[in-house]
Amino acid sequence: MICAPVKIHGKVIGVIQAINRIGVTGFTSDDLKLFQLFANQVAIALDNARLYEEVQETFYATSEALAEAIEKRDPYTGGHTKRVLKYSLAIAEELVLDIETTETLKLSAVLHDIGKIGITDNILGKDAPLTDTEVSEMNNHTKLGVEIIKHVPQLKKVIPGIRYHHERVDGFGYPEGTKKIPLIARIISVADTFDAITTTRPYRKGLPIDLALKELKTNSGKQFDRPVVNAFVRAQKKGKITRNRSKNSIKLTKTEIISH
Ligand SMILES: [Fe+2]
Repeated sequence: MICAPVKIHGKVIGVIQAINRIGVTGFTSDDLKLFQLFANQVAIALDNARLYEEVQETFYATSEALAEAIEKRDPYTGGHTKRVLKYSLAIAEELVLDIETTETLKLSAVLHDIGKIGITDNILGKDAPLTDTEVSEMNNHTKLGVEIIKHVPQLKKVIPGIRYHHERVDGFGYPEGTKKIPLIARIISVADTFDAITTTRPYRKGLPIDLALKELKTNSGKQFDRPVVNAFVRAQKKGKITRNRSKNSIKLTKTEIISH
């Protein structure tokens, strides 16, 4: 039998062992040297895996921090981002999206309104309906969001969700008025609108769920993508769409995405 320590930065984190060498002789000192080299490779691989994990965690923590920043800017959202995330994932489940798309959707849902950080306080916090000029400034948040996120290459994949979540399938949305809307943006659009309709704002009382659903169905194929609305309605019937006003911070972890 031979054993070799697995060391990371001088600290032993484990031991590897080889037993019952095939052949007539037992293990030689050369075998042990070779085995130690192998143990060093194992240590490097484990260390790399740990560093990768750390980078991933930093990435998610940074995204959560950005999402929290939006919530803090807008005093009336009261957990909007979290609910949009929840509704979007319920739709994704009904549409049986793959893990990779679901992961991108998750990040996109959390960051969809990141551009609101760049909207002035008197518009963002206004407790009355906005004027036309204010509406066009507010609508600019999709472009501002892209401006912010484009600085993070690892978040490039969330740009379509941010840019297109206010587009309409009939081409009358903004910012581009395009009918070619990526699926992630079509999902966020439904989740976002449902939450907007059902949430009470200082100047407007939130509508009950059944009326909000009616609104989504009426505008299905015009403002919203029909299959996405259908998926949302199915999710609601299954009890996956519930309202909550929790102000807990947004938790975004890799494990959560995989277990979803
Ligand atoms: Fe938005």
